[in-house]
Amino acid sequence: MSELAIPPNVGHESLAAEPAARTARAGRRRKLRFGLSMRVLVLNTAFVMIAATMIYVPAISIYRSYWLHNRLSAAYTAALVLEAAPSAMTPPELSRQLLDSVGARVIVLNMKGTKRILASSDLPPAVDAVYDLRTQSLGDVPLEAIETLFAPSGRVITVLGAAPMGGDAVAITMDEAPLKRGMEAYSRRLLIMTLVMSAIVAILATIAINIMVLRPVRRLTDNITEFGADPENAARIIEPSGSEHEIGQAEAALAVMQESLVRELNQKKHLAALGLAVAKINHDMRNMLSSAQLLSDRLANVTDPLAQRIAPKLVATLDRAIRFCQATMTYGRAVDEPPKPRRFLLRPLVEEAIESVGPLAAGHIEFVNDAPERLEVCADPEQMFRVLVNLLRNGVEALQSAGSAPGWPAEIRIAARERLGPYDGRPAGGPAAKGATGAPAGRAETIIEVSDSGPGVPDSARAKLFAAFFTADRAGGTGLGLVIASDLVRAHGGSLTLAPPATASAAEPPGAKFIITLPLHPAASEATASSRFENAPL
Ligand SMILES: Nc1ncnc2c1ncn2[C@@H]1O[C@H](COP(=O)(O)OP(=O)(O)OP(=O)(O)O)[C@@H](O)[C@H]1O
Ligand SMILES: [Mg+2]
Repeated sequence: MSELAIPPNVGHESLAAEPAARTARAGRRRKLRFGLSMRVLVLNTAFVMIAATMIYVPAISIYRSYWLHNRLSAAYTAALVLEAAPSAMTPPELSRQLLDSVGARVIVLNMKGTKRILASSDLPPAVDAVYDLRTQSLGDVPLEAIETLFAPSGRVITVLGAAPMGGDAVAITMDEAPLKRGMEAYSRRLLIMTLVMSAIVAILATIAINIMVLRPVRRLTDNITEFGADPENAARIIEPSGSEHEIGQAEAALAVMQESLVRELNQKKHLAALGLAVAKINHDMRNMLSSAQLLSDRLANVTDPLAQRIAPKLVATLDRAIRFCQATMTYGRAVDEPPKPRRFLLRPLVEEAIESVGPLAAGHIEFVNDAPERLEVCADPEQMFRVLVNLLRNGVEALQSAGSAPGWPAEIRIAARERLGPYDGRPAGGPAAKGATGAPAGRAETIIEVSDSGPGVPDSARAKLFAAFFTADRAGGTGLGLVIASDLVRAHGGSLTLAPPATASAAEPPGAKFIITLPLHPAASEATASSRFENAPL
């Protein structure tokens, strides 16, 4: 079988000439084929031999029974000949011929109380064993057969059987040697037949198992190895055979897994390239922004009242942009710095975000800041500003591209409140228990809702909304805004979700509503940045 596995034209030299990986693969394949095929062959042969052994004892017992019954029939015929003889005296020549034809030394026929004896001149001194076939039980048959096989040679036995036609019994005394020889010859024939049969069955079974099991398994293994060597190559994804059996199902499952792996890896490559590009852009952008900041500083000296009003905002915005570029460059990748939470009033930050996005709306959209005057949040203000700006920009873009829902003015609303979340096992009187609500132990959260009166997010887009690069026909959109916002909120130990669509009867507009949930007191462990870029679903 091992020869089957090694192509005859592949010598050691040509193997050595191949790349190392391929040689190793070929070696592993040879070993695999040899091992499994040979094992299957040996096992099959062993099983057939066991089956043959199990039928051997009954077969040889039946052979012996037939043999003895044949002799008894022949003896009976001989006895009939005796009956037909004209006188009680049988010629010695006829007696000898009759005994020879039966292969017996003595024949006794017991008929209606009368015994007829036919004996040869060389009577045995003693009989070694007597077998009465009339009283033989089923269990005696194989035992007597085995006894005959292993008996010492030269035994003389007497066999008794039923006499037909009203006779009581026929008994023959004979040498056991011819019976023994017959049984041994029969055993030899049986052994040869068994060997031939087991070889044929084992080869057929091995071929079948090779085709049905080993070959598909080998194909799977080879594919896994080849795919593992180049997991980004979609051409190496296994092509499922479409079979319904377990290996076919394994192939289909492997294909699905490989497809998603290829996608993930290509996505990661894409993101790595993007990260590099962002780092480069950041570098140059920071330089340009620094120049712009120098120029804007000079605006502060202009006496024009408009310039006086705009200059500080311009300087602050440029400052923020430069800090962001700097932070990204420090990390060298598109991963945000861990947040530095502190308590601050939310309302002014929302106001700042609205001012930043306001010019985009060109006065066509009303921004409503519903954050309570005194509501404080504990977060990184820089990062929360970026989250709010991303959500507000999305609202503006949605309203500009599709307009507001019928019967609703174009409006973006930011509302906020504190709520006591479900009990989270923190000890009563701990930080969460002392939330602004003064409620008993439980996890207090700040909820910030950014809603608009635009078209809302279609059901088909909901599942992929927070996946990197998902954007719905939005010119200039990169599909990263929500991923960035969600990453930043998660780094605070919070979450960014899209509320279910409002019902038609609700008092709220049917547009999109994004909900930011922030813990009132973010735990240190929760404030660890972990970018969704690294595991964003596709
Ligand atoms: N308020 C909203 N109303 C309707 N659809 C929205 C809204 N916010 C987000 N979306 C949908 O979610 C998609 C993803 O938004 P995301 O901010 O991640 O990317 P983007 O706005 O397309 O591009 P950018 O990276 O420039 O922000 C959008 O393309 C849009 O289809
Ligand atoms: Mg966006």
